[in-house]
Amino acid sequence: MKLFDVYPLYDVTPVKAKGAQVIDDKGIEYLDLYGGHAVMSIGHAHPHYVKRLKDQIDNIGFYSNAVQNPLQQQVADKLGTLSGCDTYELFFVSSGAEANENALKIASFATGKHKVVSFKSGFHGRTSATVAATDNPKIVAPLNAQHQVAILELGDTKALEETLKAGDCCAVIVEFIQGVGGLDIATADFYKKAATLCKTYDVKFIADEVQSGFGRSGDFFAFQVYGIEPDVITMAKGMGNGFPVGGILVHPSIASWHGMLGTTFGGNHLACAATLAVLEVLEKEQLITHAKTMEAYFRKKVAELDIPVTIKGRGLMLGLDLGFAVSELRKKLIYDHHIFTGGAMNKNVLRILPPLTIKEVQIDQFFTALKAALA
Ligand SMILES: Cc1ncc(COP(=O)(O)O)c(C=O)c1O
Repeated sequence: MKLFDVYPLYDVTPVKAKGAQVIDDKGIEYLDLYGGHAVMSIGHAHPHYVKRLKDQIDNIGFYSNAVQNPLQQQVADKLGTLSGCDTYELFFVSSGAEANENALKIASFATGKHKVVSFKSGFHGRTSATVAATDNPKIVAPLNAQHQVAILELGDTKALEETLKAGDCCAVIVEFIQGVGGLDIATADFYKKAATLCKTYDVKFIADEVQSGFGRSGDFFAFQVYGIEPDVITMAKGMGNGFPVGGILVHPSIASWHGMLGTTFGGNHLACAATLAVLEVLEKEQLITHAKTMEAYFRKKVAELDIPVTIKGRGLMLGLDLGFAVSELRKKLIYDHHIFTGGAMNKNVLRILPPLTIKEVQIDQFFTALKAALA
C-alpha cells in the first residue's frame, strides 16, 4: 500500500533522539532547533517522561471517558497551579485542531451565534472550522468554506469593532505570537482592546496557545503578559512532548452540560501521564525561566551578527527574518551542518523552536553553522 503523499519530506530518517539531539539511521547527529513543529518542550526521551509513560502502560494505557480516571484531575490540579489559570476548567482532546474546533464550538453554544473572526497570517488547524479560520485559501476545501469567517488584519481595532458590531460573531480567535505565519505579534493595546470588544459585543475571546503555550513563550501562556482573561485557551503541541494530547481551558462563566463535547481518546491514561511528566519537568527544571534566559542569549548572538537580521517572536518561539527566502538556507543547515530549523508562511523567516532545555553551547553551534552557511 502506498502512503497518501501530502508531505514534502527532507531526506533524513531519525531513529533515536535525546534532549535536543536527533540521530539518523546513518548515525549522523542533528541539533533539533525545530522540535517537530514546536512539540518537544522538555526534550527528546527525557528520563522522567520515559519512566512515567513506561510505568503507566505497565498498569493501564487507555480507557475512554466512560469511567473514572483520576489522572485527569491530577493534570488539572498541576496545570492550574503552574499556569495560574486554576479557575478555568479543563477538557482534554488529542490535537491542536481538535482543541480549536471545540473552542469555537463552545463559543457558538455559549453565544448562540456562528461567525468567527480570525486574523491574517493566522493558523488554527486543518479541520472544519479551524481551517476556515486559517489564512490559507489553498487548504480550505469547499466544505470548509461554508463556515462564516472574517479574516481581519492583525492589529486593526477599527475593522474588529465594525465586524463585531454586526452582532453575528461567536468568537475571536488569535495566536498571541503567530507560529506558522512567521512570528508576528500585535501591540498590547490591540490585544487588550480585542478582549474588551469581545465583552462588549458578547463574543468569546479564544487564545490559540497550541504552539505558544506550555512555557514556549517564556510565560506559561503567551497571552499572560497582557493581563487579559480569554474565555477559552487552547493547547496541544508542547503539552505531551510528542504524545498526542491537547486541551482547552474554559472560563468558569461558560457552563458545561453532559454531552456538550466528547472524544474517545482525549485524556486517556497515557495522555495524562505524558502531560503530568511534562508539567513536573517544567517545574523541577524551571524550564520557563530557562526559556527566557536562552531567549536573551539568542538575542545577544543575533546582535553580534554582521548581517542584517530582524528577530521576531518571544521566549523560545523565535524567528529570524533574513530578508531573503530561507528554504535553501534550511537545506544547507540540515544537510551540511546537521541542524533542524523551521520555515514559515513568511518565506524570509527561519523559525527557531528548540526544546526548552536548550543550552548556550547548542545555540553557539547554531550561530557558527549559520555564519558558515551564509558565507
Ligand atoms: C497556533 C496553532 N494552532 C493550531 C494548530 C493545529 O495543531 P495540530 O496540527 O495539532 O492539529 C497549529 C499547528 O501548527 C498551530 O501552530
